[in-house]
Amino acid sequence: MAKIVGCITTTHVPSIGGAIAKNLQHDPYWSPFFDGFTPVHAWLKKVKPDVAVVIYNDHGLNFFLDKMPTFAVGAAAQYRHADEGWGIPIVPPFKGDLDLSWQIINTLVEKEFDIVTCQEMLVDHAFTIPMSLLYPGGESPPLRTVPICVNTVQFPIPSARRCYKLGEAIGSAIESWDSDARVVVLGTGGLSHQLDGERAGFMNKPFDLQFIDSLISQPDWATQYSSTELVELVGSQGVELLNWLAARATMSGKVRKVHSNYHIPISNTASGLMAIEPAH
Ligand code: DHB
Ligand code: FE
Repeated sequence: MAKIVGCITTTHVPSIGGAIAKNLQHDPYWSPFFDGFTPVHAWLKKVKPDVAVVIYNDHGLNFFLDKMPTFAVGAAAQYRHADEGWGIPIVPPFKGDLDLSWQIINTLVEKEFDIVTCQEMLVDHAFTIPMSLLYPGGESPPLRTVPICVNTVQFPIPSARRCYKLGEAIGSAIESWDSDARVVVLGTGGLSHQLDGERAGFMNKPFDLQFIDSLISQPDWATQYSSTELVELVGSQGVELLNWLAARATMSGKVRKVHSNYHIPISNTASGLMAIEPAH
């Protein structure tokens, strides 16, 4: 059966793509952020995943406000990036993994998740930026991918509890996949930030740090909050942390932290990174 080698959760701010394009990784503004990834690069070299399941939210590239699935799973042979208007370079297409896509889709439907299945799917910065951060140097990442979108953009968004259950179901799909593949699960977005309205610029460091800690010791801690409470606590875009929660929930056993980093601000966002692996 396939094995989940670990889970990486990270911020996906588009301006990171601009910093990479301009080689600003060692710039004083950017280095506290980029330096956080060095231990994760070493860990990825060690665990060598074959496939990444990427849980993220699309921001209007593949799904616009007129048609917004709560949960959507990619089932394509490849996934293209396209211009979203951020002025960041377009990266080459990512390889899909049809077998794992359908394993996840079949399992989710069997477990009563009414998902949207996408046999064509563009991936936006919330997918491409984390890939560029984890596999730097401009080469295509050496692994296949399955994109999974969670609506964190337009109310009503799924509850934290529902996202946790989604993650558990994705985890059981991976662990019952008849394959010897090594799978890493990514969750992208957050942490606290609000880009618009009266609270533009809002961040909540104490909450973010508690949330990061909770993912090790009490992973369903954030499920106590309703969606409106989460918006109050982390900002209207900070609810992207639902993707972290779902990614974490794919790992059913005890976990240990490989590395974490937290830095304010990148753009208007509190940036977070964490990698975890099975504790045994
Ligand atoms: C920013 C953060 C995001 O999560 C995003 O999707 C777009 C922009 C920002 O902080 O600029
Ligand atoms: Fe975002």
